[in-house]
Amino acid sequence: MPQQPPAPEAPEAELDRLRTEVLAQVKAADPRLAEVVRAAVTHLHAFVREVRPTEEEWLAGLDFLVRTGHACTATRNEFILLSDMLGLTSAVDEVNHAGPAEATPSSVEGPFHSPAPPRPLGAWIAEGPERERGRPMAVHGRVTDCAGRPLAGATVDVWQADDAGRYDTQDAAQPPGNLRALLTTAEDGSYWFRSVLPSSYPVPTDGPVGDLLTALGRHPMRPAHIHLRVAAPGHRPVTTHVFVAGDPYLDSDAAFAVKDALVVTPEAVDDPAAAERWSLSAPFLDFAFDVRLVARPDGTEDAAAKTGAAEVAR
Ligand SMILES: [Fe+2]
Repeated sequence: MPQQPPAPEAPEAELDRLRTEVLAQVKAADPRLAEVVRAAVTHLHAFVREVRPTEEEWLAGLDFLVRTGHACTATRNEFILLSDMLGLTSAVDEVNHAGPAEATPSSVEGPFHSPAPPRPLGAWIAEGPERERGRPMAVHGRVTDCAGRPLAGATVDVWQADDAGRYDTQDAAQPPGNLRALLTTAEDGSYWFRSVLPSSYPVPTDGPVGDLLTALGRHPMRPAHIHLRVAAPGHRPVTTHVFVAGDPYLDSDAAFAVKDALVVTPEAVDDPAAAERWSLSAPFLDFAFDVRLVARPDGTEDAAAKTGAAEVAR
């Protein structure tokens, strides 16, 4: 009786062997690099085991990454956009900036930060048509520690889109630095500036990430917001957003950056005396947002706080 050929090795065992062999080749001297690569290899092999992609599907995935790379320029990072749209930027933010409940939550920086012009407290940060068209708004608040003690001399770096959802860096018609400001808090920790209500806006959709959103049946919109980066000596800086309550995209932010504590309702005020307080004309919007920073136990600064100080000096 002829001998039966051995049964073909189970694919699962072969997949195990492959993963084990690849992991055995990770010999990085840097232990953190080794940990990261081992985890990436383990998760990606598990992905293949679960999804069982065809070769065509695998090559299509690689081609998507190639196109994502080709879409990057000196001023556009399609990979960051991809990370944002998959909620990964927010996840990385979350694991790096957990804080006490009293602290202002962080949120992703986004791609539109650039050095802001230092401006005095109370400055109009919208110029030209943006100021003429937009709904005037007094934005104000206090920067304190988590116990409510005011932080004088804190830097408040602000950037926002206009009433059409465009940043100055996207819009040649806007002067550089429009709708941006670098402010320094007063003795009582207060800050304020005059601006216009920002609009919700779409993320760039003319690249492969836009194609992905379309294929997934997702919209590209981000709810209206103002970005803030606040830093004070001896405290952990915070980079965050303040979202405008009532925006139709609050529950479906394409970048998954909304947190309840960051949603503010602008109060419509039609009182000339109240407007005079902010050097505005009625009607206007009163937009109040306090920032609470976490004190560092050792009172040391970090690189972000130093950056804020350097920007003030410019
Ligand atoms: Fe933004």
